[in-house]
Amino acid sequence: MGTDMTNLELPAGTSGDGGGNPLLRVDNIRVEYPSKKWRRAGFVALDGVSLDVQAGETVGIVGESGSGKTTLGRAVLGLAPVTGGSIVYDGREISSMRRSERRSLSDEIQVVFQDPYTSLNPALTVLDILSEPLLMSGTGRAAAEKRVRDLLDQVYLPSDAAQRLPREFSGGQRQRIAIARALCRDPRLIVCDEPVSALDLSNQSRVLDLFIEIQERTGVAYLFVTHDLSVVRYISHRVAVMYKGGIVETGDAAVVTAHPVEAYTRRLLLAAPVPDPQRQAVRRAARKQFDAAQREATRIGA
Ligand SMILES: Nc1ncnc2c1ncn2[C@@H]1O[C@H](COP(=O)(O)OP(=O)(O)OP(=O)(O)O)[C@@H](O)[C@H]1O
Ligand SMILES: [Mg+2]
Repeated sequence: MGTDMTNLELPAGTSGDGGGNPLLRVDNIRVEYPSKKWRRAGFVALDGVSLDVQAGETVGIVGESGSGKTTLGRAVLGLAPVTGGSIVYDGREISSMRRSERRSLSDEIQVVFQDPYTSLNPALTVLDILSEPLLMSGTGRAAAEKRVRDLLDQVYLPSDAAQRLPREFSGGQRQRIAIARALCRDPRLIVCDEPVSALDLSNQSRVLDLFIEIQERTGVAYLFVTHDLSVVRYISHRVAVMYKGGIVETGDAAVVTAHPVEAYTRRLLLAAPVPDPQRQAVRRAARKQFDAAQREATRIGA
């Protein structure tokens, strides 16, 4: 698989560090999950995927379920079996690093997951959750507590939140706690895997604004995975569209999400939900037409 995919290199220097080396360079990677059955071939989840992320930049990864978005994020985090290609972070090849070497990177590359209900330890107070990474790295208790207050402030939670347990917060608030935890050690890159998908619409936009505000203040870069084109359009500088383990289209977020070149991206765009029923009907008709044209084209091409 993947041989027919156009994997455009994202142009370097479109933002971020002004044209120097990218913060992250994913080069032609392959991820193969081993088969559970003896002597069976594994499952190739990514093949020939290349992508750059500049410092301070948000690159959105969008695509249908199963296209490999999470796998790409996990590969960058060192959690997926990369069997080919390279991942270079800040000049260092990290995909072949041993676990102990990787640990030194955990300050710099952080993660925010989709589900704010399972990603926080329910038995710990917010203070414990947020101060743990600080204490582990040798910060004193008083300094850690001060830092936790500051982090809560940054994500717009009241400072008395520190004494409470995760279950006492709403989904949106929990995701703010998860973001605060990711920010503890001043990361330069955060892999965000559907971080607003479990939230209602008003919380979605508030949390997205928080991501943007944090980026403007700290210069952190995001690899932002989502199946939602409107989210990706809102938050990203550039977008990569994934399909069946490859990247089919990349480019400026506004351009790709408004005028996609690839048929698959156009299909994805037409499948995105719109709240207005009238526009919905127009969209449905356009999708039908598009599908018919695609079928016709395949028939002629075959
Ligand atoms: N640990 C694993 N072992 C075997 N196959 C896996 C594993 N994790 C993912 N896959 C397969 O790899 C493919 C890509 O999965 P991935 O989770 O990256 O997709 P995704 O784009 O994030 O989808 P979604 O939008 O549903 O989250 C899928 O076919 C999936 O079944
Ligand atoms: Mg996923």
